[in-house]
Amino acid sequence: MDRGGAHYIPILKPQNEGDVIEVSDIYPGQVQAAILKDGVKLYTDQEDTLASVPELFNGSVIIQTKYNSRQDASLVNYFKWTQYPSTPHPDQVVLTWSDDPQTTQTLQWRTDTSVQEGHVRFQNKASFNRFNPKPLDKVLARFEVLETPNIINDPISHRFFATLTGLQPDATYVYSVGDGSEDGWTELSEFTTAPSRIEPFSFIYMGDAQNGLDRWGSLVHNAFRERPDAAFYIMAGDLVNRGNDRDDWDSFFYNADDIYDRRQLVPVIGNHENQGGHPTLYLRNFDLFKNGPEGVEKERAYAFEYSNALFVVLDSNIKPETQTAWLEKVLSETKATWKFVTYHHPAYSSAPSRDNASIRKEWLPLFDKYHVDLALQGHDHAYLRTFPMKGEKKVASPKEGTVYIVSVSGTKMYEQDPRNYTEFGMTNTATYQVLDIQISGDRLVYRAYDIDGKLKDELVIQK
Ligand SMILES: [Fe+2]
Ligand SMILES: [Fe+2]
Repeated sequence: MDRGGAHYIPILKPQNEGDVIEVSDIYPGQVQAAILKDGVKLYTDQEDTLASVPELFNGSVIIQTKYNSRQDASLVNYFKWTQYPSTPHPDQVVLTWSDDPQTTQTLQWRTDTSVQEGHVRFQNKASFNRFNPKPLDKVLARFEVLETPNIINDPISHRFFATLTGLQPDATYVYSVGDGSEDGWTELSEFTTAPSRIEPFSFIYMGDAQNGLDRWGSLVHNAFRERPDAAFYIMAGDLVNRGNDRDDWDSFFYNADDIYDRRQLVPVIGNHENQGGHPTLYLRNFDLFKNGPEGVEKERAYAFEYSNALFVVLDSNIKPETQTAWLEKVLSETKATWKFVTYHHPAYSSAPSRDNASIRKEWLPLFDKYHVDLALQGHDHAYLRTFPMKGEKKVASPKEGTVYIVSVSGTKMYEQDPRNYTEFGMTNTATYQVLDIQISGDRLVYRAYDIDGKLKDELVIQK
């Protein structure tokens, strides 16, 4: 009853026979009260009905909610305190991409409501002199008011977004964000644009952070310390546990501090971002590519290229068939040597009694046809690397098939069943994965490390 799983049906009945219950001031307006009887509608916007009502409840009052809010009912812990309220000073500074990674950089951050203006100042590091700085370039950010009324101590904050354009490829820039006043700037940070040629590069992929975000914070900081050369971080969904409670995001951003303001975050929507049926806060938090399939809400699925690799981000919370045609278009048009797909619900599950057959049916024929190298997945909270698979069968080498990974970076852990597709699996181990595209870009070294930096799994693919 603190949000999670479809809710019970709220029914109100007077304590004393003969008394009448009147429900008023219902919020939000789409919610309504009705008399409970056989055939009554459960939701205001769906045809689902209750076939028969127990005699005891017949004639009482039912609160009909919207279908997409069916997981929203909360009897306890609805109102929350955030440990990390917004302040006039910008925080939660995060780098993402919403356009060409070679020449643009998107930034987002937040402040409290006293700040109405946001600016980015930046300069190519090659021409930056800390002691004798030339005037930095400046860009004005747009801002959005983020209302999260259940966060008692910080119900409204401001989120700022800016995209720097016309940047040089393969260049490091220094930047800071602020309200435009002299002393309102953050410490200088850095980002690096994508190369315009085929170049070796590394990136990090992580499964669900979700629970134990402070422990996850240590893991991600260790990853950064061990591999500062890794260009960006893919998170395959369930970044947080309660995706529409802002306090959870505040704690995520707090624990990612000093990482995502210098390495781009490439996020994926998990079922926990989709809390209540829509990833509202996720979409409000991040400005991402809007090049996904027609008919699917923008930023839920997207694709981009980096060096000689294609990355396709899919949303497994919505019907896979909504993205199939687009996926085929992207995979068929790319000239990239490496093809990576990432989505939350695994095509091959690691946890017992879990299965996502519709993903196999819709997407795997395309992974096979266009030879996707690796599928980076989450959701099952136990580490799995499959054999190379094609046509849902084990094949001899990654040259012939796709390798599917499930991993977890937080503290919630599931059991694992041995399956015929498992090449390597482990339980109770949070990991981060470093993927190195090496030599002249035709060799991939994939390694999984635990929180202490111990190597737990390795795979080499040579084209
Ligand atoms: Fe999860
Ligand atoms: Fe999940």
